[in-house]
Amino acid sequence: MSMSHSAHGAVTRPSPGFGLGLRTVHYGDFLAEPQPVDWLEIISDNYMVPGGKPMRMLDAIRERYPLAMHGVALSIGSIDGPDPVYLQQLKQLADHVQPLWVSDHLCWTGVHGRHLHDLMPLPYTDEALKLVVQHVRQVQDVLGRRLVLENVSSYVNFKQSHMSEWDFVSAVCEQADCLLLLDVNNIYVSSVNHGFDAMAYLNGMPAHRVQQIHLAGHSHNGDHIVDTHDHPVADPVWDLYAQACRRFGQVATMIERDDHIPPLPELINELDHARAVAADVWREAA
Ligand SMILES: [Fe+2]
Repeated sequence: MSMSHSAHGAVTRPSPGFGLGLRTVHYGDFLAEPQPVDWLEIISDNYMVPGGKPMRMLDAIRERYPLAMHGVALSIGSIDGPDPVYLQQLKQLADHVQPLWVSDHLCWTGVHGRHLHDLMPLPYTDEALKLVVQHVRQVQDVLGRRLVLENVSSYVNFKQSHMSEWDFVSAVCEQADCLLLLDVNNIYVSSVNHGFDAMAYLNGMPAHRVQQIHLAGHSHNGDHIVDTHDHPVADPVWDLYAQACRRFGQVATMIERDDHIPPLPELINELDHARAVAADVWREAA
């Protein structure tokens, strides 16, 4: 598939601003009155069965907010490649929702559900690179749009890896002509667990392909940390987010909370903090 580049070389869609992950407990809030949220990210997998209440809710909400689709089960790095039935369902949903973009994770196993730390990283080898690039192209051909891939956090290294995670991610993007969902919390978690410099990671990313940023909380488990998405965003992650705003400019930002989901106003407060952090950086840069 050939996808055109704009004159200045950007391949991303313009940023819709600051968003939240749409969670069932907040359906009522979003339908009752307009909320100060620019866009919402839905978990695609929750709406892949046609009809029913989730779909009715989704249709009502998409009349009010721009939506991005975020999946958890594409399993782009598995040997067999994406399941053709899953891919067709994803395309049907995308045709229906007309999302801002469609994302999933750069990993090799997707588990239906919310436990994103079950998404396993890949060994960073030429073989894995070739496989992933082929699968991303396959997905993009079916969807008729660029796929947005998210970096996952990791706790173990593969002995086979012979390149850094950031070189691997960057090579996937360039070779498959896809986009990036940069999870700043995941970068921080992995940098602590593996002892690398999170700034080296940010600097290694292809800036013109960063479509979106995820912010989330994590848990400390003794000597390592896990991206459980059940806490507010931590201070070092805010610092790294400021660096990301400096490096990538006006990029869509979204806060994801998957467990211990607080009342909506609390998440809107946290999102306002993200707006403030970004505004400070962008004002300085202007
Ligand atoms: Fe994420």
